[in-house]
Amino acid sequence: MCRDAFVAFALFLILFCDATSSECTQQGPCICTLSDGYYNLSALADQLPLEDTLGDYTIYFHPCTNVKIKTQSNIMCANESKLSVCIFDKQKNLTQSFGTIEETTMKLPKGNKYPIFELHHNNITLQIDIICLPNSNGTNFKIDKGNKFPPSSSNQYRFFLISPYGCKESYKGLSTGSVLLILFFTVTGIYFIGGIVTLRILRGATGWEMLPNHDFWSNLPLLVRDGIVFTFNCCRADSYERI
Ligand SMILES: *[C@@H]1O[C@H](CO)[C@@H](O)[C@H](O)[C@H]1NC(C)=O
Repeated sequence: MCRDAFVAFALFLILFCDATSSECTQQGPCICTLSDGYYNLSALADQLPLEDTLGDYTIYFHPCTNVKIKTQSNIMCANESKLSVCIFDKQKNLTQSFGTIEETTMKLPKGNKYPIFELHHNNITLQIDIICLPNSNGTNFKIDKGNKFPPSSSNQYRFFLISPYGCKESYKGLSTGSVLLILFFTVTGIYFIGGIVTLRILRGATGWEMLPNHDFWSNLPLLVRDGIVFTFNCCRADSYERI
C-alpha cells in the first residue's frame, strides 16, 4: 500500500518535470530556456543584417537588437531609425520598418521542433522559423516563397532562419528537476534501507517490523482515506464523528 503511494508520488514528480519542459521561457531577445536546455541566438546580434529577396522586395533582418539598416541602394531604412526588420521595394526605391525587437517574441509553439520569432508590427504578423543547422559556418535567412508582396495585400509573412545558433544547447550538469528526483530517491532509499538494517541489527526486528516507522506507514492508507472522505464531505468532520 505505501509502496503504491510512493510510486504515485514519483510518477507525479516525473509528469510535473515533463510538463514544465515543453514551455520555452524567454529570457532575452534571443534566449529562451527549457527545463533540459536552452536556445541562444545572441551571437547574431554582432553580425551584419541578414537579407533575402523575392521579386522586387528585399527583407533585411537583424535578430536580437535594433540597428540602423543600410539597403543595397545605400539608403538607410526608415529614416535611419533603429529596427530589426526592414522591407525594401526596389521598384519604388522605398524602405519601411517591418518590426523592432520590442515587437518580437521568441517562443516554442506546441508540437514545434524549434522555436520561432513572432513579430506584431501594426497589423502585420511575421513568423520567423528558427531551423538548427549544426556545423554550418554561416546563418541563412530565407523568405518563404508563399509570401505575397507588397505588404498591403497580406498581413501574414513567413521566413526561415537557418543557423548553427538555432540548435538547442544542453545544460552543463543537471537540471533542477533531475536534482530533485535524485535527491528524493536517495533520501527515500537511505531512509528505508538504513532503517531496515538498523532495526534488524539493534532490535532484531523481522518481517514488516523492520520497516522504519511501520506504524505510521501501515496507518497511512487509512489516514489518506480519512483525508479524502473529509475533503469530499467538505469539512463536515463533526458529522462524520457523530455517526
Ligand atoms: C549566449 O550567447 C552569447 C554570444 O555567443 C554569449 O555571450 C552569452 O553568454 C550566451 N548566454 C547564455 C545564457 O548562454
